[in-house]
Amino acid sequence: MSEVVVRVEDLHKEIEGRKILKGVSFEVREREIFSIIGGSGSGKTSITKHIIGLWKPTSGKVYVFGRDVSELSQAEMDELRKDIGYVFQEGALFDSMSVWENVGFYFLEHTNMSRGEIRKIALEKLKLVDLDEDVLDLMPSELSGGMRKRVSIARAIATNPKLIIYDEPTSGLDPITSRVIDRLILQLRERTGTTAIVVTHDMISAFTISDRLLVLRKGVVVAEGRPEEVINSTDPFVQEFIGSMKECLLHQSKIS
Ligand SMILES: Nc1ncnc2c1ncn2[C@@H]1O[C@H](COP(=O)(O)OP(=O)(O)O)[C@@H](O)[C@H]1O
Ligand SMILES: [Mg+2]
Repeated sequence: MSEVVVRVEDLHKEIEGRKILKGVSFEVREREIFSIIGGSGSGKTSITKHIIGLWKPTSGKVYVFGRDVSELSQAEMDELRKDIGYVFQEGALFDSMSVWENVGFYFLEHTNMSRGEIRKIALEKLKLVDLDEDVLDLMPSELSGGMRKRVSIARAIATNPKLIIYDEPTSGLDPITSRVIDRLILQLRERTGTTAIVVTHDMISAFTISDRLLVLRKGVVVAEGRPEEVINSTDPFVQEFIGSMKECLLHQSKIS
């Protein structure tokens, strides 16, 4: 049995009297692509904030690489963050920095490595997302949406994390570019052996790339399992959520 990378146990989060997460539990295993799907405001991003230790549970536990995140010291937390790559929802590139500086940002900030060395690491990571040296010195404003997304992914993998969290990796992209990013997420798992958590409301993406997925509704897990299990869930919300997409999804999972 492969190792558990993330374990969330009965996670509750309350902010200003509002219950945002109401007893969420799941496990993500090594090399899995695990998606969290659900409507806007259902709590998807909130779950990931607990995994990276940005938020503390109101109650419940979050274990990452076997360690209780809320028990870590600041130094241990910094170590943990190095092992987790986070691809932010909006890409969040620094507009005043070139592509290679964005990708090498961690090393520019936290090490004494020379700019030449960092540029080399950046190129190596850019190649992993199918970009090449032509983009090194471009500014983010010169890139297409799909390229910006690739650069954010290259930045997230710069420190060779064991876990990558993608927050809405295909949002704002056209359908064709979205499928390219899906393929890239799968490729990266092959190339680097990393585990991935993908937060998304793009159901084609979730159902084609995930080993397992979880459906969240207003902070509650309403379905969890392999894509074919979730598609056949009898939960009325899941049926409505997947609804008209079901035929398309069943067809997709056959051809992929
Ligand atoms: N910092 C915050 N303070 C108060 N409420 C928040 C905060 N962040 C998120 N929320 C609320 O928590 C709920 C879940 O948000 P979020 O996890 O971002 O949803 P999703 O990623 O599924 O769209 C939403 O109702 C949102 O308004
Ligand atoms: Mg979100």
